[in-house]
Amino acid sequence: MTTLRVWDLPTRLFHWGLAISIAGSIITIKTGNTQWHFRFGYVILTLLLFRLVWGFVGPRYARFSSFPPRLAAAWRHLIGRGEPTVGHSPLGALSVYALLAACAFQAVSGLFANDGILWDGPLRKWISGSTSDAITGLHLANRFVLIGLIVLHVVAIIWYRLGRRQNLITPMFTGDTQQAPADAQPARDDIGMRLRAALVLALSAAAISWLVR
Ligand code: HEM
Ligand code: HEM
Repeated sequence: MTTLRVWDLPTRLFHWGLAISIAGSIITIKTGNTQWHFRFGYVILTLLLFRLVWGFVGPRYARFSSFPPRLAAAWRHLIGRGEPTVGHSPLGALSVYALLAACAFQAVSGLFANDGILWDGPLRKWISGSTSDAITGLHLANRFVLIGLIVLHVVAIIWYRLGRRQNLITPMFTGDTQQAPADAQPARDDIGMRLRAALVLALSAAAISWLVR
């Protein structure tokens, strides 16, 4: 076992930015600050668009091709019969796709939602009132799916730490795992990659601000 760069800086910033923004959007709507709820939502949409593109042009362990959804392999991993992996395990991969999909559904449905009094999502004007009400219902219902997945995510990571003696949290901060097989390849995390990420992020932010204006 050796030390290896597994999560590039952009992927780590994406992760913690997403976690903070999801918390922010929930806290602000609960405290009645709809304007900031919307703003956090736009940040989340920008981050998700970034991650979508980064899944194709980012370094090896951030690429979707390095963690395809595979049910049988995920099951083997769950019962402790999986091969050791670097990056997302087959089980982790399923949770990543579920989390990304639930976040995306929440944020996109919000664009068409209304609060019945003052606030309309920026794309509400393109659809009828009854369609917007139905989408608002989905926005309100999906929050339970999203929060459930986040709780499961955190519980799973604690389970890896305590039950499987695998520390996944430190690599999400430092980028490095201490538990990689000796022959594994590191993720590219140099200045060129980071500039590429900055460009993808800037284009994502421009696309989302154009969409919601
Ligand atoms: C709102 C809260 C959160 C959301 C929406 C979220 C979402 C995600 C997503 C989408 C990924 C995949 C990263 C990628 O490849 O782009 C991920 C991975 C990860 N998250 Fe979170 N996360 C949240 C909170 C947390 C917290 C509180 C922790 C720490 C306990 C955490 C620890 C991790 C770790 C360690 C990974 C990497 C898992 C692996 O090695 O496969 N997350 N998370
Ligand atoms: C992933 C990001 C988002 C999360 C986690 C989220 C979460 C929530 C939650 C939990 C509520 C219910 C508050 C309550 O009554 O208890 C809510 C309501 C609402 N959200 Fe979001 N939301 C997100 C994104 C957005 C976006 C991008 C918009 C629009 C730009 C939006 C517009 C609304 C509106 C209009 C309501 C009020 C619905 C009503 O009270 O009938 N949301 N959201």
